[in-house]
Amino acid sequence: MATKDIDWGSLGFGYVQTDFSYVSNYKDGKWDEGSLTADHNITLSECAGVLQYAQTVFEGLKAYTTEDGKIVTFRPDLNAQRLNDSAARLEIPTLPEGRFIEAVEKVVKANADWVPPYGSGATLYIRPYIFGFNPVIGVKPADEYQFRILCTPVGPYFKGGAKPITIKVSDFDRAAPHGTGHIKAGLNYAMSLHPIVTAHKEGFDENMYLDAGSRTYVEETGGANFLFVTKEGKVVTPKSNSILPSITRRSLMYVAKEILGLEAEEREIRFDEVKDFAECGLCGTAAVISPVGCINDHGKEIKFPSGMEEMGPTTKKLYETLTGIQMGRIEAPKGWIHVIK
Ligand code: PLP
Ligand code: COI
Repeated sequence: MATKDIDWGSLGFGYVQTDFSYVSNYKDGKWDEGSLTADHNITLSECAGVLQYAQTVFEGLKAYTTEDGKIVTFRPDLNAQRLNDSAARLEIPTLPEGRFIEAVEKVVKANADWVPPYGSGATLYIRPYIFGFNPVIGVKPADEYQFRILCTPVGPYFKGGAKPITIKVSDFDRAAPHGTGHIKAGLNYAMSLHPIVTAHKEGFDENMYLDAGSRTYVEETGGANFLFVTKEGKVVTPKSNSILPSITRRSLMYVAKEILGLEAEEREIRFDEVKDFAECGLCGTAAVISPVGCINDHGKEIKFPSGMEEMGPTTKKLYETLTGIQMGRIEAPKGWIHVIK
């Protein structure tokens, strides 16, 4: 077996079918043992819970080839925990202890030839998800579920990779107070489709969502959390109950404080403070850290001093340290790197 003959450098963030997926079924109150499958299609009832009432939750993590040739994942225990938190909120049965990581290990090992080589700029994106399988017509949870993991090699989430992007302040809301913004439910992303299509038509790369209650505070984008750097060099990130607790963001805040010796704070951030920040970035598994050069607020532009050509200096340090840890160039904090093979 050998690494696939793919032009890794030209991959975008799209679906490429790999050799194996993982599948496990929940029926009669329990999960089966689970297994690998080479069948990448699903046959299910026209009335399945997922189709009628969007009962589905998912995760996103990546497998990397390190400098010394190992295949690793980054903090999968946190994805396991978050998938179960998401499931509980949508009345989906949680996975038994250990099952998530065992499944990730199995499916990544089976697709080892699809893990892009070190230095290629690409990674293997791993998408675990659980959805309501059996017919449901009254509004209630399904009784049967499927847990699957698909893998697909990916390049940068935003075209242009590390080049700063331009985003707009959205007039739409992504998540309601006391709603589902803090979990990774498919329905949150359905909510964001019209706003993102609208933003793209207008020439923007992403949306900045404000808090739905008061439209005063910064929340997040459709697929990433915000990090800002103040003019004094402090890293700040929005605190809110309706944003996804990003594993990348939590890791970067630790990197900022414990490795780079920067001040770092999670706090409520008013939108009217943003114009005074020195740098802005979007962080997430898919986005890694994507620098934001400009925010368009209904025609009024906030241009960050870091400009439209390069990442700001602090964002760059954070990016290089995090990717250095993920690719095995920098020693990782204990428990962050999970070796698969
Ligand atoms: N926010 C949203 C809405 C997301 O979809 C994601 C992606 O998972 C993130 C933030 C970043 O989270 P993480 O760093 O755990 O990938
Ligand atoms: C991720 O970063 O893993 C995401 O899920 C974001 C997006 C692709 C939905």
